[in-house]
Amino acid sequence: MSSLALEVRGITKIFGKTKAVDNVSFSVEPGEVCGFLGPNGAGKTTTMRIISTLDLPDRGDVFVDGVSVIERAREVRRRIGFMPDSYGAYSATTVTDYLDFFARAHGLRGKERSSTIAGVMDFTALHSMQDKHIDALSKGMKQRLCLAKTLLHDPKLLILDEPAAGLDPRARVELRELVLALADTGKAVLLSSHILTELDELCDSVVVIEAGSLQATGRVDQMVSEARAEMVLRVLGDQEQALRAVAEMPHVSDTKLVKGAIAFGFSAGEEQRAELLVALIELGLKPVDFSARTTNLEDVFLSVTKGTVQ
Ligand SMILES: Nc1ncnc2c1ncn2[C@@H]1O[C@H](COP(=O)(O)OP(=O)(O)O)[C@@H](O)[C@H]1O
Ligand SMILES: [Mg+2]
Repeated sequence: MSSLALEVRGITKIFGKTKAVDNVSFSVEPGEVCGFLGPNGAGKTTTMRIISTLDLPDRGDVFVDGVSVIERAREVRRRIGFMPDSYGAYSATTVTDYLDFFARAHGLRGKERSSTIAGVMDFTALHSMQDKHIDALSKGMKQRLCLAKTLLHDPKLLILDEPAAGLDPRARVELRELVLALADTGKAVLLSSHILTELDELCDSVVVIEAGSLQATGRVDQMVSEARAEMVLRVLGDQEQALRAVAEMPHVSDTKLVKGAIAFGFSAGEEQRAELLVALIELGLKPVDFSARTTNLEDVFLSVTKGTVQ
């Protein structure tokens, strides 16, 4: 048995002439929040539907907690909670009735059912809304209700498709807190977005997909520290001569003069950046400015995606 909460192994899905998902592999560990990023049409929803057993891959397989979505779909369903990007309206019902309906569908009975419903309402702070009709809820509250429903059967893996779309900033902060709290309890979370900033400061790892193909996958902290930094150096005296010296240094690329300063790319960590400055001073250069624009998830995203939309 694998200790991975989710393992996507080489899945391909073809619709007519469109390769919606093309040989995609990645994995998520228990307690990990993984951001699934890519522009519209990249293949995120198709991948999530396959993980959630709503669709079968043409090639490859997915294992949830070691269980195959092809061989044992029913067992997978017990282990996952899928929140689609748009969910059916049950506007005529109240919050409690809605959750009660799904709790029954999951086979929860008697005391177990009422305590489970109370538990998910507590977690999503829906108690004060329990008698409200769903159509009277704000988008953020509907989102919380949908999440509450997804948690009723205590899944190990949560698949949230574009959960932050259309939420106001406050509801987004609440969503982030809920997701982090879920990860703290050991659940694995895969959440998609085509807007990178929605996932910043939330994910431990990211999977970037574009036109069905995997572009990058890895831990956010590692990707950020390894990404190329954009540096600027200005020295006293002749910039041209200094530029030639900089271009000779290790990890340096694309040196050019910009507004009387030397701009260049630097593909190494802070240790090497400090060594570069020392080496330049030892060569007799006199830096007055030496700065790096810090790299964030957005830079990583831009550097791995090409902007192709299928
Ligand atoms: N049921 C379907 N029938 C035909 N084409 C589909 C179907 N579902 C998705 N696609 C196509 O597959 C590609 C990926 O779509 P999707 O997985 O929804 O991307 P995303 O969620 O990243 O926006 C798109 O080109 C889309 O038009
Ligand atoms: Mg989608």
